Amino acid sequence: MSVKVALGVTGAIACYKACSLVRLMAREGWEVRVAATPRALDFVGEITWRTLSQHPVETDAFAPRADWRPLHIELAQWCDLFVVAPCSANTLAKLAHGLADNLLTQAALACERPLILAPAMNAAMWANPATQANAEALKARGARILDPEAGELACGVKGTGRLPEPEALMTALRRIAEGRA
Ligand SMILES: Cc1cc2nc3c(=O)[nH]c(=O)nc-3n(C[C@H](O)[C@H](O)[C@H](O)COP(=O)(O)O)c2cc1C
Repeated sequence: MSVKVALGVTGAIACYKACSLVRLMAREGWEVRVAATPRALDFVGEITWRTLSQHPVETDAFAPRADWRPLHIELAQWCDLFVVAPCSANTLAKLAHGLADNLLTQAALACERPLILAPAMNAAMWANPATQANAEALKARGARILDPEAGELACGVKGTGRLPEPEALMTALRRIAEGRA
């Protein structure tokens, strides 16, 4: 089954896990276009996303391009699934409130396909009522939230906030793509 995925990546330490997720998707025969926030590129460079996904990385809706269609609309209409993994607290909040101030949030807002978010952050950030309310608001509007896991976090604390392992994310995404979840 060939699936076109717009994979949003954000400024979270778990970006390194999303690299493996791209590889798993590619192995599955899925086509992946990475939409990176500027902060995501502080964690993993453009060249890594581009090489692993075998596509240009989309970061700037205002960059010159040959296609007349705005990039965020074209990407939103191209994909079968819009996945954000890892989804930072910041991007989760923007999506919950309909902000559209970068390529990822613009495309997500314009997308009518399933939106799947995998939040990853410090445990206190995840537990914060503001973040919880944002996740609940998105769920109520039909977004799928792949909940973060408990364990040791990169920031040095233990708690809930870890991005699930790429294989677990892939299993969940496969089920969604096949209409089983
Ligand atoms: C070292 C470091 C690690 C960070 N890790 C996370 C994280 O795992 N999750 C998160 O929500 N924010 C994290 N942040 C904060 C985000 O990078 C920050 O909120 C940023 O504005 C997110 O931007 P974006 O959502 O546009 O990518 C981290 C910041 C730093 C400096």
